[in-house]
Amino acid sequence: MNKLQREVFEEFEQYGQEQVFRFWSELNDDERLSLCRQARRIDIGRLTEIVHTLLKKEKNQEEIFYQGAPFAPADYISLPLDETSRCRWEDAYNLGEQILSEGRVAVFTAAGGQGTRLGFEGPKGTFAVTPVKGKSLFQLFAEKIRFAEKRYGNSIHWFIMTSDRNHNEIIEFFGKNGSFGLSNVHFIKQGSLAAVTVDGKIMLEDKWHIAMHPDGHGGAFRAFVASGANTMLEVQGVDVVSYFQVDNPLVPAIDPYFIGFHRKNRSQMSSRMILKNYPEEKVGVFCSAYGHSTVVEYSDLPIERAIKRNCGGTLCFKTGNAGIHLFERDFFSLMGTEKNEHQLPLHAAKKRIPTIDVNGNPVDPELPNGIKFETFIFDALEFAEYSIIVEGNRKEIFSPVKNSVGLDSPETCRQDQVRLFSKWLVAAGSDMPIDAKGLPPFNIEISPLFADNERDFLIKWNRLEKHPAISSGSYIE
Ligand code: UD1
Repeated sequence: MNKLQREVFEEFEQYGQEQVFRFWSELNDDERLSLCRQARRIDIGRLTEIVHTLLKKEKNQEEIFYQGAPFAPADYISLPLDETSRCRWEDAYNLGEQILSEGRVAVFTAAGGQGTRLGFEGPKGTFAVTPVKGKSLFQLFAEKIRFAEKRYGNSIHWFIMTSDRNHNEIIEFFGKNGSFGLSNVHFIKQGSLAAVTVDGKIMLEDKWHIAMHPDGHGGAFRAFVASGANTMLEVQGVDVVSYFQVDNPLVPAIDPYFIGFHRKNRSQMSSRMILKNYPEEKVGVFCSAYGHSTVVEYSDLPIERAIKRNCGGTLCFKTGNAGIHLFERDFFSLMGTEKNEHQLPLHAAKKRIPTIDVNGNPVDPELPNGIKFETFIFDALEFAEYSIIVEGNRKEIFSPVKNSVGLDSPETCRQDQVRLFSKWLVAAGSDMPIDAKGLPPFNIEISPLFADNERDFLIKWNRLEKHPAISSGSYIE
């Protein structure tokens, strides 16, 4: 053991984490070097502090939900219901278009997660999701960006947050596909954190690899600053970041309405909400406490609150988090600095973590055997002096692919896309057959290169000299 290795070993020993080096005597020089490198990247003092504060006190759901604070359902800007609100939405749209024409918006996609629930091996963004062409999520987002580039006459920066687990694969995928015709795609890798046992001991993936995992989508802030993205955008006068998760093909990636509301309200962080479909739906809910908005994650919302209804029969906590936000660039980067007052809280979750036993044999647990820590992007709401929540029509903006079957699966997502495209076509006068669920008896697809919402679709469709017949497999681009 050389001097540097001894120092790392002693530091880990001091914090009671010497088990990380349990197999040292069996490792060759390269393996020892690799293990030491990983160990040095861990802020062992911070990890110990986290373990003490988060793991030593078992919290129950009620405690998490209240934390002594008077939570109430959050206020939001609702979809236009009357002439006055329609005018307000129209004003927002015009302002949003102006900001986009000035080239002041960049796009950020959180794609560092592991997609375990979907049971798909590759990065989720490479998952084929569209009904006719089987385009990947990444291709779809790229087309949305290309449409906006053409429409607003400027090039748009797209930041894709990757993690250690999928960085190379994602870069390779874009390389193979010529970046889908975009010239400003940037891949920025989020940080990682060590997984620990329920007793707070750092876990090993194998004899010389620590079990590391992505540090949560809250890692976006640090990754953004560390990559130099903030400085680059500042120089180019880009001051709004449009953020969304990789799993939702319906996302309005660049939305003039939302951008207009964001700017009009001088918001530092704006969020898109959708009405929950049913009480137990696995979406976070927007609440307000102490004068700011917050998201209470579905796993932290006690069932009694989730099912509670007001006298009119609607859910009290009905404002679902769609995972779509707008940030002022300087707020985004402020959250990514090391300043203590802007530290996002860490959340601990029990997970199944492949590891090795004391003899070094692999263990693939069926039940959660360890704890992962993550920060969440929406916890930044607490630090925003000005923030707004804007309603979105869930049929138009939200259909995530999360599970392999059942709810939020590739099948429900396919149906939601076909239903939406059919609705646009019917609004344009098509007499295509539609059942009671709004679905035709076949698949159709409309590319975002043609239009990404009903408003744009109708304008473009009505300009066509000849309208294509709609039948099985119709694809409009
Ligand atoms: C998430 C939200 C939930 C929201 C729902 C909407 C959290 C904790 N909860 O739930 O409030 O209502 O989406 O669909 O996010 N990711 C990273 N890096 C990471 C972890 C995740 O980039 O380290 C990305 C994933 O690739 C994915 C997104 O973040 O795009 C959401 O993560 P996921 O774990 O799937 O969140 P949900 O439980 O679905």
